[in-house]
This record gives sequence, structure tokens and C-alpha cells, in this order.
Amino acid sequence: MSNSFKSNDNVVQSIDIEEDSPISFEEIESAAKQAMSTPAFSYIASGAGGEETVRNNADAFKKYSITPRLLNDVSKLDTSVTIFGQTYPTPLLLAPVGVLKLADEQGDLAVARAAAKYKVPFIQSTVSSYSIEDVAQATSDSSKWFQLYWSTNEEISFNMVKRAEEAGYKAIVLTIDTITLGYREKDMRHRFSPLALGYGQGNFESDPVFLSTLEKVNSRTIVQGIIDNINYPALNWEHVKELKKRTSLPLVLKGILHPEDALLAIEYGVDGIIVSNHGGRQLDGVISSIDALPEIVKVVDSQIPVLFDSGIRRGIDALKVLALGADAVLVGRPYVYSLAAGGEKGVGQFLANFLQDLQTSMMLSGVKDVKELRQLKIARV
Ligand SMILES: Cc1cc2nc3c(=O)[nH]c(=O)nc-3n(C[C@H](O)[C@H](O)[C@H](O)COP(=O)(O)O)c2cc1C
Repeated sequence: MSNSFKSNDNVVQSIDIEEDSPISFEEIESAAKQAMSTPAFSYIASGAGGEETVRNNADAFKKYSITPRLLNDVSKLDTSVTIFGQTYPTPLLLAPVGVLKLADEQGDLAVARAAAKYKVPFIQSTVSSYSIEDVAQATSDSSKWFQLYWSTNEEISFNMVKRAEEAGYKAIVLTIDTITLGYREKDMRHRFSPLALGYGQGNFESDPVFLSTLEKVNSRTIVQGIIDNINYPALNWEHVKELKKRTSLPLVLKGILHPEDALLAIEYGVDGIIVSNHGGRQLDGVISSIDALPEIVKVVDSQIPVLFDSGIRRGIDALKVLALGADAVLVGRPYVYSLAAGGEKGVGQFLANFLQDLQTSMMLSGVKDVKELRQLKIARV
């Protein structure tokens, strides 16, 4: 079976979909569950506390429904978006996910390669399995952004940002909702920590500033060093101001849920925000990301790009979020499950299917340009 995805620049990419490869999110999730150990699958799937927010993120999408326009000649589509001066053929990015070796030995390399094929920017995590330089070398001609977890020793953060700049990354994403790890009951039950198992050290074991802080360098001290640095509850707006001064790249804050924080981000000169609740993995009981979006879009009033993640499973979900005013969307778990189930090829198949769903959904909604999606009538029921 063959699946094709057409974008505005008439790039038609076809990939072979194997007959028995998973298609729906539910099939991908179940294939990943079979491919992984219980603690590893659970680490990816689960959220904080009783997982109220994980459930709400997905359920909340059902409240928003589309009223399509018809007879609108949608034979030519434009799915491109321009963010920070870069034009991307689709409004999709891959969310930063750490410890990807848990899903597949090739981890970030496999994901970045699949993303490159579809010209989808890959946002690499601070706690990635491979280093910034490894990923850059594997995908030299694709767009990549770097996600930063602020280190207790801030010189490590500044050095990682410098490395991302030197490797040609296009933006810095500072995650602000993980100043301490969420209370994750399932990981506690399984006594499972991928960081302690060494899955998230690609950027640390290759960082001279980090290594210079260790008395002895071995696998035990590297893991301990990461654990000592990775949570920083003192993070505040002054750090944002300092980071802004330290980088020439656009700075994006990930984890905004409150309209006042969106306005502060603008006041502090931030270039973009990601409305996100970390896929329900941090504070259980927070507002679902899609419910938080409309008010934030309203106050931001197009001053900076508003990106979105948490709960997107299909192309049609992306369409709803774009119709509510987001400029682009990120997906997390769906591509991680695809990686676990089918490696690089699995991620490619997921992207092809997702983008085809988005394109079909645009056509059937009567919208030919992704930038016009916000004029689509969308009701909250
Ligand atoms: C296994 C896993 C690891 C993650 N690691 C990171 C990370 O290192 N940095 C970060 O900013 N967000 C991280 N996230 C959150 C994602 O970037 C994203 O916000 C979330 O997955 C979106 O929700 P979704 O999975 O429902 O698409 C992680 C999410 C998962 C599932």
C-alpha cells in the first residue's frame, strides 16, 4: 500500500506502508506496548498523579467541533507556515522528548532522520540519548530546534545553547514547567528512572563544561551529575532575561498555560510560546492544553507565534488547534510510540499518515490555506 503527502511546494513524498503496520493512534500505541518492557512503556504513556490531566488533554478535543464550508475549490492546498523567518511546508513539529533510546537504539537519530524527510522540525531535548552534534551530523540539511532544561550550574545551560547555535539549530525552547519532576506514581511503582539508567546523557557526556564539574568521570558520576543539575526550582523571569541576552536564536517558552504568563513572556522579549502541560506529566489537575489556548491566543493577539502541544493524536486534532488560533502544533507520544513500534520507518509512516489526515481534513473543512484556518467556525460544546 502506498501513501502520499502533497505539500504546497508540490513535493510529493510517497512511502510504502506495510500492510500490517499500525495506522490509527490506538494501533500505534498498542504496537509500542507490545514492543517495550512494561516499565519503559509506562514511562512514556503515563502522567503525573492520578493522570486526570492525561485523560483531560485527550477528552477536551471532543468538546470542539467544526462547522465546515463547502463548494470552495480546495484542489490546491497551502499547508506552509513561517515561524521566526523560516518557512516550513507544514505546521507540524516534533516535541522534545528525552531518553528516546528507551524506544529504539537509534533514538534521536532515527526520529531526526524521519522528520528531515518530511521537512518537519525536530526539537531535541536536553536529556536526549544522542548529542546535539550527533543529531546535527546525521541530519545536516534539516531544521532542528534545541530544548533547554535549565541546569543548576547555569554555565552548562549556556554552553549547551552555544553548542546548538554552532550546530545550526534554529531556535531555543526553554521548558519552564519542569522545575522539579512531576509526581509520577507509575514510575515510582516500577522504580524506573531512565535518567538513572543512562538513557538521557548524550548532551552531558559530550559537554566540556559539565564534565569539568565532575571530580572523576565515569558512568556513575555522569548520571549523578545530571540528576544534580536537571531540576532548578529557582527558575524565574530573570533567567529568561539572561538567556535572551546570551543567545542570538529566537527564544521560545514551553509550558505556558496562563494568559498573564503569555503577556509576561512578551514583556520579557520572548520570541514565541508553546501552550503545553507537558502531556499531563508534570502537574496533575491542570487545565487541558486545548482549553487554555483560546484565551492565550486572544491576549497574545498575534504579537508572537503561539505553538501548542498536549493531546494531539491525529491530523484532525491539529486542525482544531490551528482553527483555535495556534500557529503550529507539536506532537509527542504518537511519534515516540511509532519509534518503538517501527524505528525510523515507523516514525516516517506516522508522519505521512498524520499529514495526510491534516490535508484531507483541511479540504473537507473547505479551507485551502493553513493560515486561514482560524477563520473556520469552531464551536465548544
Ligand atoms: C517520554 C516523554 C519524555 C519527554 N521529555 C521531554 C523533555 O525532555 N523536554 C520537554 O520539554 N518535554 C518533554 N516531554 C513533553 C513533550 O515535549 C510534550 O510536551 C508532550 O509529550 C505533549 O503531549 P503528547 O504526548 O500528548 O503529544 C516528554 C514527553 C514524553 C511522553
